[in-house]
Amino acid sequence: MTKVLYITANPKSVEESVGLTVGKAFIKSYQESHPNDEIKELHLYQEEFPTIDHDVINSWDRLRREGLEFSELNQEAQEKINNLNAFADMVAGADKYVFVSPMWNWGTPPRLKEFIDSFLLVGKTFNYENNGPVGHLKDKKAIHIQISGGIYSQGPFANMDHSHPYLKQVLNIVGIDDVDVLYVEGHEFDRERADEIIRTGISEAQNRAKTF
Ligand SMILES: Cc1cc2nc3c(=O)[nH]c(=O)nc-3n(C[C@H](O)[C@H](O)[C@H](O)COP(=O)(O)O)c2cc1C
Repeated sequence: MTKVLYITANPKSVEESVGLTVGKAFIKSYQESHPNDEIKELHLYQEEFPTIDHDVINSWDRLRREGLEFSELNQEAQEKINNLNAFADMVAGADKYVFVSPMWNWGTPPRLKEFIDSFLLVGKTFNYENNGPVGHLKDKKAIHIQISGGIYSQGPFANMDHSHPYLKQVLNIVGIDDVDVLYVEGHEFDRERADEIIRTGISEAQNRAKTF
């Protein structure tokens, strides 16, 4: 059975958020066109997930640099590392990923960055080899629905987008080569066209979901 992970990074409710509204339309359309697939939701601002703290980073250093055995770490550190590994395994177990995030200050909301740091684990989802990082994941695909007040998919501000290009790059690093993007953008830049931009985003999301 194909497993889809729907990952959102927004503290707002669906009703308050353009992105979550578009994302909801995508998932509804996907469900209708792929009734046998399993969809799991991961709302990064509504749910706790394991992240890197002092215990984790310190233990990684000791395991790598001092050659310490995992069993020599204290109980709390072992538990935190196990939780992080289990989280990365859960994420890696999906076949398809749907990300929904707004642009915040030309980058991603911080919880999405934390998610990336909890998923890009050396030795688990990728490794460094002589020619650079090599991903362990194969035959997976992703779509990123990115919402922004201004326009970044093209035009004079395109090189200020440190959100989608960054997410795409880290997904490529873990081996997810097929990464599509749906920009829903410019609704705050061009208020007169705001409704049309959002309507088009919803309809495009519904269409793309059918063939995702
Ligand atoms: C903290 C914060 C930072 C933002 N930074 C940008 C930005 O750098 N560029 C931009 O075009 N819009 C920016 N915006 C506007 C949002 O991208 C826009 O409101 C978008 O619709 C948010 O998506 P949502 O409605 O799904 O929450 C920012 C909004 C917030 C709250």
